[in-house]
Amino acid sequence: MSRTLDIPFVRQHFPMYHEPQNFSGHFFDSAAGSFPCTETIDALAGFYRNNKLQPGNPFSPSDAGMEKMLYSKHRWANALGVQTHEIGFGPSTSQNTYVLAHAFSQWLTKGDEVIVTNCDHESNTGAIRRAVEQAGATVREWQVDAATGLLLEEDLSKLLNASTKLVCFPHASNVTGQKTDAKKIIEMAHAVGALTLVDGVSFAPHAIPDVDALGADIYVFSLYKVYSVHLGIMVIRQATQERLPKQGHFFKDVIDVNERFVPAGPDHAQIAAAGGVIDYIETLAAHHGDANLSDSGGPNGTVRDACEFVSSLWRQHETELVRPLLDFFKNKNAARMLGSFDADTYRCPLVSFRPNVDSCADVAHMLIDQGQLVSHGHFYAPRLLDAVGIDSQSGVIRISMAHYNSHNDVAKLIQSLDSLL
Ligand SMILES: Cc1ncc(COP(=O)(O)O)c(C=O)c1O
Repeated sequence: MSRTLDIPFVRQHFPMYHEPQNFSGHFFDSAAGSFPCTETIDALAGFYRNNKLQPGNPFSPSDAGMEKMLYSKHRWANALGVQTHEIGFGPSTSQNTYVLAHAFSQWLTKGDEVIVTNCDHESNTGAIRRAVEQAGATVREWQVDAATGLLLEEDLSKLLNASTKLVCFPHASNVTGQKTDAKKIIEMAHAVGALTLVDGVSFAPHAIPDVDALGADIYVFSLYKVYSVHLGIMVIRQATQERLPKQGHFFKDVIDVNERFVPAGPDHAQIAAAGGVIDYIETLAAHHGDANLSDSGGPNGTVRDACEFVSSLWRQHETELVRPLLDFFKNKNAARMLGSFDADTYRCPLVSFRPNVDSCADVAHMLIDQGQLVSHGHFYAPRLLDAVGIDSQSGVIRISMAHYNSHNDVAKLIQSLDSLL
């Protein structure tokens, strides 16, 4: 696709870029939390202004509040290619996986095996490892390549067997930027009859996943990294909901993720506002749309069409953003970059590196002084850093971008990196 993303138009939808007092410099910390789009902010404020009371009563504006929540859920279900009862909104991905771990601990038995990686954010592995042990089952660790930090499918195939009940893995790493071939991994897991839990937190901000096409049994991600509110979305397909012990109150019998697997009380306003980002995606699709809008995306197509179309615009732009950074690190001996140098395949616009001489903290502070807003640490993936021989306490510097970053941002960052490394 030749159409390029209109960055000034994109930035009109992010108030953080309009107010000079908000920040100065170039923002490179979106993997920690993205800027919210205007549509999210307006929907949240609108709910607080007009609907903030217990929703679902047959009087106004309580009934309208419930409608907004259901609409939001419906929009996200369409975006992800699943049924409305197959998605739930919880307080965060960590909390959602914690509850899932509880369900796994009741479901697994001695002799069962569960595969987790040492690449994941701790939220997709820690509670699950504990749950497996509690059930008397066995944890098998799919380990990254020690030189690059990349997960290799050939290593997974050695771990899979008839006892494997569950495979938990990231759709993208929040440290190396690696995108895994989730569809293939899920097929490998299904071939031995195992369920799959995919952490899409680092993937979803760059492409809205088609969970149905991927075949994932459970797919989780955090909306506050997808230009939206501070909630976690959890997809659990119907067949998997029926297999796992429910974690909701005894009187909640409906097959629905929120009823069965999100015991926290719902944050009504945030759920109602969660769909705002879908409006933004449709607006982007319409702005960039082509003659085939009704077939390939945009307001005349389905929500999923718009997501596909906009995700491809994001991917193309982000690939061009990350390419010069990868070239820079390929030719720089003063730092070790993790992950792949190939911008075109299996990569998010996220680059982590460790300077050879100065500490990460020092270099990160110097970058920030120069207006390059990066972050440093282990990003809750200390197992990964340990596995590639980096002290997780000193960590790495992470440069993470989203589709609203510009080529100018990257050019300025490379100038600063060149002067400091
Ligand atoms: C890859 C990844 N998975 C999971 C999480 C946990 O998400 P949450 O903050 O919603 O608990 C994060 C948070 O940074 C993450 O980066």
